[in-house]
Amino acid sequence: MSDTANRANWGSKLGFILAASGSAVGLGAIWKFPYVAGKNGGGAFLIAYLVCVFTIGIALLLAEMLIGRTAKKSATTAFRDLKGGLWPWAGRLSVLCIFIILSYYCVVGGWTIAYIFRSITGEALTSDTKALSAAFGSFIANPGQALGYTAAFLGITVAVVMGGVEKGIERMSKVLMPALFILMLILIARSLTLPDAWDGVKYFITPDFSKLTASMIVDALGLAFFSLSLGGGMIIAYGSYLPQDTKLVGATLWVSSLATLACVLAGLMVLPAVFAFHVDPAAGPGLTFITMPAIFAQMPAGQFFAIAFFFLLLFAALTSSVSILEPIVSFLIDEFGWARKTATIAVAIASFVVGIPAALSFGPLADVQLFGKSAFDLMDYVASNVMMPAGGLFVALFVGWAIWPKIRSELSAEGSAAVLPAFRLICAVMAPIVIGVIWYHNL
Ligand code: ALA
Repeated sequence: MSDTANRANWGSKLGFILAASGSAVGLGAIWKFPYVAGKNGGGAFLIAYLVCVFTIGIALLLAEMLIGRTAKKSATTAFRDLKGGLWPWAGRLSVLCIFIILSYYCVVGGWTIAYIFRSITGEALTSDTKALSAAFGSFIANPGQALGYTAAFLGITVAVVMGGVEKGIERMSKVLMPALFILMLILIARSLTLPDAWDGVKYFITPDFSKLTASMIVDALGLAFFSLSLGGGMIIAYGSYLPQDTKLVGATLWVSSLATLACVLAGLMVLPAVFAFHVDPAAGPGLTFITMPAIFAQMPAGQFFAIAFFFLLLFAALTSSVSILEPIVSFLIDEFGWARKTATIAVAIASFVVGIPAALSFGPLADVQLFGKSAFDLMDYVASNVMMPAGGLFVALFVGWAIWPKIRSELSAEGSAAVLPAFRLICAVMAPIVIGVIWYHNL
């Protein structure tokens, strides 16, 4: 970002696309997508996910960018400035949502740091997936390690936000984001040449529509929101730094395509290996951490690739966690006048405390269940499958009805009048109905 007279701006449209894609592409694509797709039967889930992204997802991405760019404020203040009334509550809800996400996101971010060390020591490199699964299980069950690595990941996120080094991160993204995609292509090539790998590809791309259940569609919609960073005010916050003349429709296509590509590549990387190594595709949150080391163990220079992979995954996770922390901090600054440093430290401490049950839910708290879910699963479910779609619903209603005349003239002014009918149809009608129907079935 660069400072202008009124408000900081992204250095260029590319800068914004990189930052928004950096927010989108993270653990959601590489850690979460493969295991949720694995759990939901593969192909049918992939189609449901893609449909969610390229209908409601892409429209809400545009909607959030427009809200941010028009108001030049983070979510709560933006809702108030643009319309007022009860709307700021939609912004407060989004802050609560991403606060919960931050709390358990750091747990998984911590696993990534641990696996960088395990790759350096060579501990993680074996093709014995039973041993890998046991090692992963005992690592995440160890309270000291789980909490220590969570704190480490949170600490780095805080350092980035407090040190104002986002600009450096933005520059590094130009190199490291393409590097992550290239590395994934190399790993896909290795994964696909393992014996029985094509069973995994078939599982991933052949839809079995008997798997199409209400709960699967809830997962697909939730993951679409999570992987595009929607419904939590993250894109509103990034959009607030956009210069007025940026063409948003093109940016929307870039960000959603990159985020989806990352998910599809992660699926093609992990699921063939899952079948090659006879791991249960429904094995849950450890899937990427159990299968990737087995791939590294079976390739030349495997240790180098292992370190590079977990390092790039950590970087991708950090560009997302920074985008999760930043709007919470901005909320406290904009709404309560807190100093940036105080706000950042307070959010970090609170998020660590709230994240403790999530970090311990694979160990000491494994038997503590609410609604049949551990603390980790419950936080993930509530935040990404309930609160993010709720945030998306409010954004859709806000843009589609409450401030539509303003939005129409914004889009017309940037020469994107052609998308207006479809955009309004999705925001005003389709998104509210689809999200409503899905909730009704789910609850
Ligand atoms: N969009 C972020 C991710 O998927 C939250 O990691």
